[in-house]
Amino acid sequence: MTEITRDVVIIGAGPAGTTAANQLKKAGLSVAVLEARDRVGGRTWTDIIDGAMLEIGGQWVSPDQDALIETIEELGLETYSRYREGESIYIGADGEAHRYTGDIFPVAEQTKAAMLALIEQLDVLVAEVDPDEPWAHPRAEEYDEITFADWLAQQTDDVEAQDNIALFIAGAMLTKPAKAFSLLQALLMAASAGSFSNLVDEDFILDKRVVGGLQQVSIHLAERLGDDVFLNAPVRTLEWGDDGVVAHADGDITVRARYAILAHAPVLYERISFVPPLPRRQHQMHQHLSMGFVIKVHAVYDRPFWREQGLSGTAFGPYELSHEAYDNTNFEDERGTLVGFVSDKNADGVFELTAEERKARILESLSHYYGDEAKNPVVYYESDWGSEEWTRGAYAASFDFGGLHRYGKDVRTAVGPIHFACSDIAGAGYQHVDGAIRMGRLVADQLIELARA
Ligand code: FDA
Repeated sequence: MTEITRDVVIIGAGPAGTTAANQLKKAGLSVAVLEARDRVGGRTWTDIIDGAMLEIGGQWVSPDQDALIETIEELGLETYSRYREGESIYIGADGEAHRYTGDIFPVAEQTKAAMLALIEQLDVLVAEVDPDEPWAHPRAEEYDEITFADWLAQQTDDVEAQDNIALFIAGAMLTKPAKAFSLLQALLMAASAGSFSNLVDEDFILDKRVVGGLQQVSIHLAERLGDDVFLNAPVRTLEWGDDGVVAHADGDITVRARYAILAHAPVLYERISFVPPLPRRQHQMHQHLSMGFVIKVHAVYDRPFWREQGLSGTAFGPYELSHEAYDNTNFEDERGTLVGFVSDKNADGVFELTAEERKARILESLSHYYGDEAKNPVVYYESDWGSEEWTRGAYAASFDFGGLHRYGKDVRTAVGPIHFACSDIAGAGYQHVDGAIRMGRLVADQLIELARA
């Protein structure tokens, strides 16, 4: 039995929790970090599978992600650029693989014009939305009461243009069908990355990787915390009141503290018994946040064979099972790695198949981009975060249709001594490690101020 007293108990040792804990400790506050899993890092997880190092969760860093970049530099980690020499592949409605360079897919002229017009319109709308408070936009309610798919259909009759623009937010980011979330939610996603154009530019959004893996951010931050991190310690009960909190975790661990930070995905709040229960608003609000779902597929080959064909490895196909794929070869690795993504309804569909059938279907899709050689990887692995009890989906949580303007303003509001920090409730860096770090810093600063008051 472990009974300890700290200034702050932090629930979750992902990027948000480990960042907050370090900042609090630097300011002289004592912390305990309780982590459900047997490792730190949360949705960042760098592992060796059949001899290949794979980024099972988050991995890419984009140039606007200042908080993450500062942390990477401060921890002395190195980054390298994603391989991007050569031509990309696009498979559209005609089912043919077309080579191209630049950002705009090689589609028919009228489709190209429709796509460019949509990107321009979205950039204008996104510039009006503050990612920290999209609900404050004067037309927030109206934008939250039309699905992204319906809004796109109102702007153009060109279905391939609609499907391609939907892809950048739906399959590629929120990992929900474009009919399942609102225009406002789409604008938040783009605003959190700076602009819609940034999402279309894979050289921006998927710019760099960390040598040795992105999980190292949390690993190094946790190392600095030493014995203050408790693994295999899922918090089951959180008592709270005017005097602070008492957290009860597996392993017979009890932590008394002045404040708690819930530093994990909002869909997991309901896994904790709050005594007394959280207020009505939180009960309602938390039911309107749900995880998207995507399978991240890793295929490792004896060499990056696509480069020999002048291909960058970058591939898009709005009607393909794997709607996007990239060269994901590790730093200075002779072997070549492709990473593909199977999102929302497609992911549901292939999980109804046997593992062998699913693998065959996914590799078949990759072969449409890269040729038959793609069907024979030496290592094959599917990241399935939907099966992970302490995550339950990928990449992150978003509000369901109409939920953002209704509940968004309260998503970061503390309840008594309980504070919330996670990438899924961030503004800038939303759904990314950068947003997790920003939220960790923000909540730590608030608590430091409260503790000094
Ligand atoms: P995170 O979920 O990482 O950590 C929360 C921690 O809390 C977990 O360790 C969990 O076990 C723990 N926990 C939960 N409940 C608990 C309880 N009751 N008691 C104790 N502990 C509890 N981002 C990016 O920047 N670039 C990218 O390329 C990608 N790509 C990507 C791919 C895939 C497949 C995924 C799943 C995710 C990404 N992301 C990403 C998103 C990124 O990984 C994510 O935004 C951050 O890891 C979120 O960090 P948090 O600390 O907020 O939560």
